[in-house]
Amino acid sequence: MAIRKIVTSEDPILRKTSRKVEKFDEKLGYLLDDMRETLRKAEGAGLAAVQVGILRRVVLVDVGDGLLELINPEIVETKGEIEDTEGCLSVPGEWGLVKRPEYVKIKAQDRRGVWHRYEGTDLKARCFCHEIDHLDGIIYTDKVIKKLTPEEAQEFRSKNKGE
Ligand code: CO
Repeated sequence: MAIRKIVTSEDPILRKTSRKVEKFDEKLGYLLDDMRETLRKAEGAGLAAVQVGILRRVVLVDVGDGLLELINPEIVETKGEIEDTEGCLSVPGEWGLVKRPEYVKIKAQDRRGVWHRYEGTDLKARCFCHEIDHLDGIIYTDKVIKKLTPEEAQEFRSKNKGE
């Protein structure tokens, strides 16, 4: 396994649409393993493959209750709306308020290609949306209602991790 470099928001690759994964092969496994190491080292809550320069619909989410490997993830249901702070490993040192659904249900394949459904509320729901946005070239800063001042960010930093 290897730590991969996380690209930052000036890199135009983050604006591209990621392609569907069709081959559930060894190469996908290596990518997932590297992404897992990279996410752990960065102490983030989520990582999309495009953030390590790979335009494939592959996402990791870990909000503290176990790591999810999500291949070709799609949102199937949302409920409610909530404003909360959000950050991104590709936009280091910045935080902002973003409105997201309070509850999100998704479907995604695992590394063997088997479909599963996952649901989440609050941070997990937020993370699902944030990462799936990355696959379509959207960065959370596009949706920020209010950028946080360094003082406000300091207060939130302990609460929320980057995605
Ligand atoms: Co992000």
